[in-house]
Amino acid sequence: MASDKQTNLEELHQKILQSNICPELAATATQLVFGEGNPNADIVFIGEAPGKQEDLQGKPFVGASGKFLNEMLEMIGLQRQDIYITNIVKYRPPNNRDPLPEEKRAFLPFLQEQLNIIKPKLIVTLGRHSMDVLLPGLKISQVHGQAKRYHDQVFLPLFHPAAALYNGGLRQTLIDDFASIPAILKKI
Ligand code: URA
Repeated sequence: MASDKQTNLEELHQKILQSNICPELAATATQLVFGEGNPNADIVFIGEAPGKQEDLQGKPFVGASGKFLNEMLEMIGLQRQDIYITNIVKYRPPNNRDPLPEEKRAFLPFLQEQLNIIKPKLIVTLGRHSMDVLLPGLKISQVHGQAKRYHDQVFLPLFHPAAALYNGGLRQTLIDDFASIPAILKKI
């Protein structure tokens, strides 16, 4: 039931806060950005880590890449309330540096729990950081836009909207890959 999933997500949120994960990141961040959206969603999007706006507002993808993500969702007839969004690393790294391997490792069990609660049909990884932890050993330039079944779960690795935002070629590639989501969902 939806309300059970919501309760379980809230419990997981509290558990992360109490688990002292990445204390150095927690010390420089404003707050934990747990995730947001529909706990009954068919699709979960997973980004890298909160940026400045996300850190301030406590919500994922609310800055420039979030705006682009919203536009692409609209293109396929979806709104933010239809999906769930989170990140592999849930505290903002200082100056938006890349998350460290140990930071991704520390958050991975909690991300897996989050996914286990939601049980989406499709997991869309945005950028290489979330792809690396869930689909190890792949190269995003080679596999972007290709649905992959792994451990009985369907994944779709996509480029990160921030990388594509100001790069014309990558931007169109991401838009084209995004457009394949409804057909992929239908097939699952
Ligand atoms: N980029 C990400 O990877 N995640 C966010 O939440 C915002 C920007």
